[in-house]
Amino acid sequence: MTSRTCLSIILAAGEGTRMKSALPKVLHQIAGLPMVAHVVKAAETAGATDIALVIGHGAEEMRKAAEKFAPRAGTFVQDKRLGTAHAVLAAREALAKGYDDVLVMFGDTPLIDAAALGEARAKLAEGAAVVVIGFRPPSPAGYGRLIETGGKLTAIREEKDCTDEERKIGFCNAGMMAVSGKHALALLDGVGNANAKGEYYLTDIVEIANGKGLDVVATEAGYENALGINNRAELAEAEAIWQKRRRKEAMLAGVTLIAPETVYFSFDTEIGQDTVVEPNVFFGPGVMIASGVKIHAFSHLEGATVAANADIGPYARLRPGSDLAAKAKVGNFVEVKNARIEAGAKVNHLTYIGDARVGAGANIGAGTITCNYDGYSKFFTDIGAGAFVGSNSSLVAPIKLGDGAYIASGSVITEDVPEDALAFGRARQKTLPGKGKELRERRASAVKK
Ligand code: UD1
Ligand code: CA
Repeated sequence: MTSRTCLSIILAAGEGTRMKSALPKVLHQIAGLPMVAHVVKAAETAGATDIALVIGHGAEEMRKAAEKFAPRAGTFVQDKRLGTAHAVLAAREALAKGYDDVLVMFGDTPLIDAAALGEARAKLAEGAAVVVIGFRPPSPAGYGRLIETGGKLTAIREEKDCTDEERKIGFCNAGMMAVSGKHALALLDGVGNANAKGEYYLTDIVEIANGKGLDVVATEAGYENALGINNRAELAEAEAIWQKRRRKEAMLAGVTLIAPETVYFSFDTEIGQDTVVEPNVFFGPGVMIASGVKIHAFSHLEGATVAANADIGPYARLRPGSDLAAKAKVGNFVEVKNARIEAGAKVNHLTYIGDARVGAGANIGAGTITCNYDGYSKFFTDIGAGAFVGSNSSLVAPIKLGDGAYIASGSVITEDVPEDALAFGRARQKTLPGKGKELRERRASAVKK
């Protein structure tokens, strides 16, 4: 990659009224990550060394969120929305530091591909002063049209300012631009607002640069790159495209998805080769799956780490802090939270394991519950290697079962059980011969009367 310095200015001052939301538009998520964070990621992948976020509406909330997804980004407030050029100039201080390349991007265009940005930067390196990323939407209505003569971009005309002839052009402005840092401020300062909307249009720098004899070109990117999100229907559309891309990437990397269209990934899901994912599986944020894992249908995973050849589900729920070692098995209707299931341990059915360790090779019977919470605090359950916990047992934490401990089914265990001990925690069974029949007859005659 190039050693040229690069500032990415991401415009996100819009109100996003059509989202009908208390949350600023660009903080709505795609694959579990705010859409503006996807834009930041693309900028970083394209080599942006610094990020400037231009915010307005919901500035405080935006700043707080940005600390998480772009801790190194500078934030700049645009008080009044006077247009895209005006918005870029809100980051004047950052621009003035001097960069080789400046990438201008929109916070509400989350599917932008880093490769398209890289291509635009390459044109700057070749000597262009302004590079506009163009695309050909199914319908150009609403987009700025790219006006070219002899391979050079001469102007971008906003729809409202187009002549009838210009309106017929299908090649449109995707919104992203790469501008030479050497010229950026002078070009932006030259923008006026004499147009149909009375706004300072970023797109005007194309004509201004041409007027100065600078080199201006357009590149072309796929339609999806330019998909701007204005409402929740478009948000879902972008999510669908993102998921489709990610599923394909996973499959090409050696993951089997039996019904890919029913599997949902998060922005950070990691999944190893030869893992098989059955239909209807959801990966929330923070999931890392090694190779050769089987994830059966209808499982929900979040914040979980899963080692090689583990077996999960169907209908399993792995909550944050779940840590499955190699060949561990977590079966149907089992919930795991903040717990390590060590190698080869089995938690096969109808169980809650929270704040616990299940030692290697241990077997946890159906209906076992770690009682980890007393309404105030959480307590830890430590189950030793090779332990056997009989069905329908309650392990009242804090509690420790030694290696090889054996718990009789139906026990309520409140005291530690040493290594290899057998523990009963239930009343002894009493059997009264003939008493069942006697009871039945007594009840029957009482009801008849
Ligand atoms: C813009 C382009 C148009 C392009 C289209 C692609 C201009 C003048 N027009 O039009 O050529 O085809 O995007 O989607 O650039 N913003 C601010 N502050 C402002 C104005 C805008 O932060 O004062 C932000 C918005 O929040 C948004 C982005 O800039 O994220 C684009 O603004 P918008 O008003 O949506 O521009 P379009 O009319 O869609
Ligand atoms: Ca727009």
